[in-house]
Amino acid sequence: MAMAETLLKVEKRHPYVGAEIMGVDLSKPVDADTGAAIRKALDDNIVIFFRGQNLDEPQQLRAAEILGKVAIRRRPVSGDGPGGDFDTPFMMVTNIVENGKPIGAFGDGEMWFHHDTSYYPEPHRATLLYAMKLTTWGGETCFSNMYEAYNRIPRKLRDRLEGRRVLQIHDYKRRERLNLEAIDISKVRHNWQPIFITHPATGNKALYISRLMSAKIEGLSHEESEDALNQLFDISETPEIVYEHPWQMGDLIVWDNWCSIHMRKDFPREEGRLMRRLTIEGQAMQF
Ligand SMILES: [Fe+2]
Repeated sequence: MAMAETLLKVEKRHPYVGAEIMGVDLSKPVDADTGAAIRKALDDNIVIFFRGQNLDEPQQLRAAEILGKVAIRRRPVSGDGPGGDFDTPFMMVTNIVENGKPIGAFGDGEMWFHHDTSYYPEPHRATLLYAMKLTTWGGETCFSNMYEAYNRIPRKLRDRLEGRRVLQIHDYKRRERLNLEAIDISKVRHNWQPIFITHPATGNKALYISRLMSAKIEGLSHEESEDALNQLFDISETPEIVYEHPWQMGDLIVWDNWCSIHMRKDFPREEGRLMRRLTIEGQAMQF
């Protein structure tokens, strides 16, 4: 019996991170071979995207299930985080306000580099973002390859930090460094994570810090910790290892949330931007 030939094509869009997947219509179910090829493309390229998709919620959910078990959203500890419907796996990433109330999360403007859910005991495996409304300029999402960031850490610094943990916090800021003096840590989501992780799927080491969410390195003085973190932030944001995604309507982008960080560029706040997000369940990070 002849097997249906898959038309899937993977084309790199950057030397270090990001590939476009072509020949797949995610509004329809995909066969097992195509699913396996998509998972491999994600492992190989860290970020993958599909252009020109037309997906309703059930179709996006089915596309997400190719990658694993879809995570359900939980209410933030503080209760004063992003709004939205918590009984759904979907999150609307938007600045749109209706009847004086935001219809989703993360508002407008620039957002610094971060991992999603690095402050959870089991950070999410991947995030899917689907473009439903875009602004006339800006709002690009940039992704950095954290395997490559790890490789670029000077030997002496790497040896000093090996085996240490870093405190990851989410206090709903978007472009401001964490200040532990000013935060009541019991009121925000936080978790100690290995500063260098071994990626569970690929077995490669990746740097696991971000400018937005990493507050402190275990066992170092405040000054030592800030000095090391600032060096690591700069390495992780080296332009050479960053892919900037120019969004188009109908883009579905998927990122490996363990070995990449991402940031959002500024956009006009008077214009509406709307993205529909899903995440894939993860597991505890290992050294
Ligand atoms: Fe994010």
